[in-house]
Amino acid sequence: MAKNKEKQMVLGLLLGPYGANSKAWTENVESAKNYPDINEDIRAAQLAEKGKFQFMFFGDFPAIKPATSDELRAMVLDPIIMSGIVASHTKHLGLAITKATSWNNVYDVAREFKTLDAVSNGRVGWNAVTGANEVSANAFGASVGSSKERYEEAYEFVEFVQELWSVWDKDALQADKDSGIFADYEKVRTVSLKGKYNESIGTLPIPPSPQGQPVIVHAGGSSNSIAFAGRYANVFIGEVWTIEQGQAMRQALRQAAVDNGRDPDEIKFIAGLMPLIGDNKREALDRHAKFIDEKTFRQRIAHIGYALNTRFGPQDIDQPINKEILDRVVVTPYSDPRIDNVLKLAYEGWTLRDLVYHSVIDYHPAAVGDAKATADHLTEWFEAGAADGFWIMPDTYEVDFQRFVDEVVPILQERGVFHEDYEGETLRENLNIPYQYGRDERLES
Ligand SMILES: Cc1cc2nc3c(=O)[nH]c(=O)nc-3n(C[C@H](O)[C@H](O)[C@H](O)COP(=O)(O)O)c2cc1C
Repeated sequence: MAKNKEKQMVLGLLLGPYGANSKAWTENVESAKNYPDINEDIRAAQLAEKGKFQFMFFGDFPAIKPATSDELRAMVLDPIIMSGIVASHTKHLGLAITKATSWNNVYDVAREFKTLDAVSNGRVGWNAVTGANEVSANAFGASVGSSKERYEEAYEFVEFVQELWSVWDKDALQADKDSGIFADYEKVRTVSLKGKYNESIGTLPIPPSPQGQPVIVHAGGSSNSIAFAGRYANVFIGEVWTIEQGQAMRQALRQAAVDNGRDPDEIKFIAGLMPLIGDNKREALDRHAKFIDEKTFRQRIAHIGYALNTRFGPQDIDQPINKEILDRVVVTPYSDPRIDNVLKLAYEGWTLRDLVYHSVIDYHPAAVGDAKATADHLTEWFEAGAADGFWIMPDTYEVDFQRFVDEVVPILQERGVFHEDYEGETLRENLNIPYQYGRDERLES
């Protein structure tokens, strides 16, 4: 029986074609020949919903071309359009959709997100990132500004969007056949917004959704990003590799929320996890190895060497790393943030090859082994206050995510750390965060 703990973790799924791995297509070749095949994204979303995931994440890196011919990159298709299709094939799953606050138009963004939130019955989150990629910026005829400028614009952009979201008063809609009144348009305002970076004189005649307006999500990690999230975000997706790093980032975010007069529980810190699941550890490693090509393999060996301040040759690949090399490593605040995991596994005696298969040099940590190993990682981090939830990146949806839903989710539910069913209908209800419509009145301008 589940223990029904009061506080439960949030789970989100990264949407990438066929899986989070850029080589996931190799296990779904028939569909890949028809790329882009939206049915695969719908299937992944429905599986996430079966697993009671609170949200699916639609990243956005426009104009980025894959580096090698075997890759199929995520975050290329237009996330607004994709999420609209996914919304119409799901009922409870939240949709966290990325759109940059640089180079986009404030009115367009306000309208797209309010439309999606209204038609999905309140399931939308806006991942408001500043857009720090030069290639993407160039595609829009812009270039990437300094961090200060980008975040200054982001503050203005979010406030303008939230202002536009609230121009329809909550009681404006009447749809009253007797009086013949559809809406009291006196209660639908036109706003005049003029800032340093953006302007709009306009109205947005769309009623509030059941959750009021979209949730603000933010993915990042710099100090400016944390300050921005502390002011506006309810969900923050970060990059951390150890429990200690997770605790520190979560604490920094909670403090940033308090600095803005908000309740720290209103902001959920989401850490990433790559679940590498097999019947045992060896099987999980061997399966993940299939998704690492020769070029990436060589790069990672070089990266591990760099982190350990040594140079590896071909003869070292299938050997455990010499203890003398490990003992010489001095960890400083400037070391690679993944160094602790590299050292831990190296001291356990894994070969250099298996270290790579453990994904020690990756964007997020990995849990390697059977389903319990992944469940243990999630439970341990959650109970240590290192995260309020997790962003799950399975290599493929068809095999790896299916195993996560079938095998990991029941363990978490049994332990009482993950809900058995959706708490409500909206993303806010399912994240346990307050209703919001318009700008947050508590924030000083
Ligand atoms: C987990 C994660 C996901 C991200 N997803 C996106 C994305 O989809 N699109 C994007 O433009 N930036 C994305 N970013 C980049 C960040 O918003 C940010 O630009 C980056 O961390 C650099 O930091 P800075 O912009 O604060 O200087 C992501 C960052 C993280 C950590």
